[in-house]
Amino acid sequence: MRQSAAEDISFYDNHPEPADFYSEVIEGLGRKRKIIPPKFFYDAEGSRLFDAICGLPEYYPTRTEMQILRDNAADIAGHVGEDCLLVEPGSGSSHKVRLLLDSIRPSAYMPMDISKDHLIGAAQRVSAEYPWLDVHATCADFTEPLDLPYEPPQGHTVAFFPGSSIGNFEPERAVEFLANIAAMVGKQGGLLIGVDLVMDHEILNAAYNDSQGVTAAFNRNLLVRINRELGADFDVDSFDHHAFYNAQESRVEMHLVSEVDQVVCVNSHRFEFAGNETIHTENSYKYSIEAFQTCAREAGFSPINVWTDAQNLFSVHYLEVGK
Ligand code: TRP
Repeated sequence: MRQSAAEDISFYDNHPEPADFYSEVIEGLGRKRKIIPPKFFYDAEGSRLFDAICGLPEYYPTRTEMQILRDNAADIAGHVGEDCLLVEPGSGSSHKVRLLLDSIRPSAYMPMDISKDHLIGAAQRVSAEYPWLDVHATCADFTEPLDLPYEPPQGHTVAFFPGSSIGNFEPERAVEFLANIAAMVGKQGGLLIGVDLVMDHEILNAAYNDSQGVTAAFNRNLLVRINRELGADFDVDSFDHHAFYNAQESRVEMHLVSEVDQVVCVNSHRFEFAGNETIHTENSYKYSIEAFQTCAREAGFSPINVWTDAQNLFSVHYLEVGK
């Protein structure tokens, strides 16, 4: 096989602590209000289902954000400035950054992800597609503070955090995360971040309750995974997907609702469910432009610009450290 330029990346391993699926599930199900942390959604099947969600007609965030990035790439590049080091925490397949690379023309791109093999593959593909770009892949847990393993010889550092993943943090944790990013990019640094907006409840409810049932399958897959990997005996079909907009908290809540009174065993642990009792699986907070800018300021950023779509469904903010 032909050796390609794809091999030509630098790799840094921060050796992120792997999550303890078993203890976190036992702890979460043992609470008075049962929870399962959303980071466990993404096994192979969960990742496949989430990709399918992103293509659903009702799930507007992915395509809306991509359209904003496409439509405003030149203007965004003007704000980000030339020759930066572009760092992407939670880069996954590095899909969205491709909409910006030709405009932003960073001197280096640092995809950062907890999943090492997927990260290396994705970084190699970016490197092959953009031969002029220096690629420095970093295996790390972006929810922890991090010093960059590579500092560019000159120029500033800008982080890219699309997908409204910020909405999956509790608001206090979101500010903490933004402050970590501010520390990571340093004094002249910036952050380009996608944030889902507060909007019409019908649109939100539809986005998390699609007509084909893909979202329900994605939520239930958590239980399938727990059965398979932790030897549990969830009767998966007796749990309903329930997602709704909680206006007071400004968030979409995702739950799995037990249809009946039942007992579930995870290894030697017994968990009782009353009929209609729920397992809370994720929150997706929605922010007005002003509410998000307030969080950004608390974390040490200044809002520089914001781009939205014509329907005001989604926002992309550019922030700079300090001032
Ligand atoms: N991070 C996604 C979001 O907040 C996750 C998501 C989309 C999700 N649809 C879901 C989580 C349905 C649970 C159930 O938009």
